[in-house]
Amino acid sequence: MTSDTQLHSYAFPKGFAWGAATAAYQIEGGWDADGKGPNVWDTFTHQGGDRVFKNQTGDVACGSYTLWEEDLKCIKQLGLTHYRFSLSWSRLLPDGTTGFINQKGIDYYNKVIDDLIANGIMPMVTLYHFDMPQAVEDQGGWRSEKVVAIFDKYAEFCFGTFGNRVKLWITINEPFIVATYGYEKGLFAPGIKEPGIGAYQAAHNMIKAHAKAWHTYHSQFKEKQCGFVSIALNSDWAEPLDPTSVADEKATERHLAFIFGWFAKPIFIDGDYPALMKSQIAAKSKAQGFPSSRLPEFKEEETKMIMGTADFFCLNYYTSRKIKHKAYAQDEPSLKADEEVEEVMDPSWPISGIEWLAVVPWGIRKLLKYIKDTCNDPIIYITENGFAQSDPAPLEDTLRWEYFRQTLLEILKGICLDKVNIKGYFAWSLLDNFEWIEGYSKRFGLFHVDFDSPDLLRTPYTSASEYAKVVTSNRLPEPDEMQR
Ligand code: NOJ
Repeated sequence: MTSDTQLHSYAFPKGFAWGAATAAYQIEGGWDADGKGPNVWDTFTHQGGDRVFKNQTGDVACGSYTLWEEDLKCIKQLGLTHYRFSLSWSRLLPDGTTGFINQKGIDYYNKVIDDLIANGIMPMVTLYHFDMPQAVEDQGGWRSEKVVAIFDKYAEFCFGTFGNRVKLWITINEPFIVATYGYEKGLFAPGIKEPGIGAYQAAHNMIKAHAKAWHTYHSQFKEKQCGFVSIALNSDWAEPLDPTSVADEKATERHLAFIFGWFAKPIFIDGDYPALMKSQIAAKSKAQGFPSSRLPEFKEEETKMIMGTADFFCLNYYTSRKIKHKAYAQDEPSLKADEEVEEVMDPSWPISGIEWLAVVPWGIRKLLKYIKDTCNDPIIYITENGFAQSDPAPLEDTLRWEYFRQTLLEILKGICLDKVNIKGYFAWSLLDNFEWIEGYSKRFGLFHVDFDSPDLLRTPYTSASEYAKVVTSNRLPEPDEMQR
């Protein structure tokens, strides 16, 4: 039980958006159905090599491509006002370009969108959630400047096709993860290991691609469609390991610049990277004998093009870290060496069923306040937040509901006490699904999915029924109600 005397009411503001989120590759399956083209995750998982738990794939996943109606039942059971999902780029445009348009893909998403709207649920649509068409990757993917125009054409096609009904758009999900896992560590598709180089190039093009798509929306569609476009940024909250150490304090500032400011500053503030990032990477590059900084620079017209290209802030928050200053060997370029930090998990923090996810609900309140203070007090949607259970996962997921409840309480404090402009919350995820390199071994769903049953049966966890109560009442249970 939490008693929080600071809060006068446990109610959320009127009209608060209550949602759950998913992503195409993680739930749809139908990887080659009806003309869909391959994407980088199809390639990556089909190559095997034990990079994914038990070499599992998203070939079938939750089968949402054919079982959409079952997903809709889950959404309705929760009483959601919003549903966040992503479009599979290569299902719509098999080679990534509008040279060939797959009508079956359009039909599928039209049905999803129309059904949501018919049920009074607002779609929030992500254009790109980690699943780059293989044909675009083959031309250099995010590391090539070419992708900026290709992505823009795809975005224009989506705005034109679905924008009469979709009013909330997210261009790119978690560019930080795409850059660092896809092009620095090589742990995620496309599996490229170019430490200290690939991630900066990929991020550079993602920022430009996002900005260009935002401009396309605003110049061609905004007036008629009246929607909003943003990008979903993930960030941990970070605090110095030793609060009395100036070195740790500075390292924490650097960490927030490298994880959060990398994308938030150009897009929300001034079209350029944080000064701390620029100086660190320039100095290291020089010492390593590079002719110029490994961090690319934005041209003046690009800076102008990028700044202010988000109509609201989308935050994916899961966990927090303690930060310690750490010097690395000079010769090998890498992001961590550029940053000169070590991330530490406080031993007092409980760990969820996935090892990186330490339970730190208060971190979200601090991060939300930080966004308010550093990004011009934007409208914020929490577009992902969740807790994984390890497979096999109990349907009575008491610990997990406690994580959700405490996080929601911190969000409420952010709204009521810190006056942060928070408009909505999306639980990750509607369904247990393909958790990237963890395959199906980690379960984030509000609904359990029986991956062994032919009909991929969905069953609510306790968290689903508890979340439904919050959604329908638009408030958290008060402490005395919880005792009863
Ligand atoms: C963020 C990603 O957007 C999502 O795809 C992933 O499943 C969750 N984090 C949990 O790791």
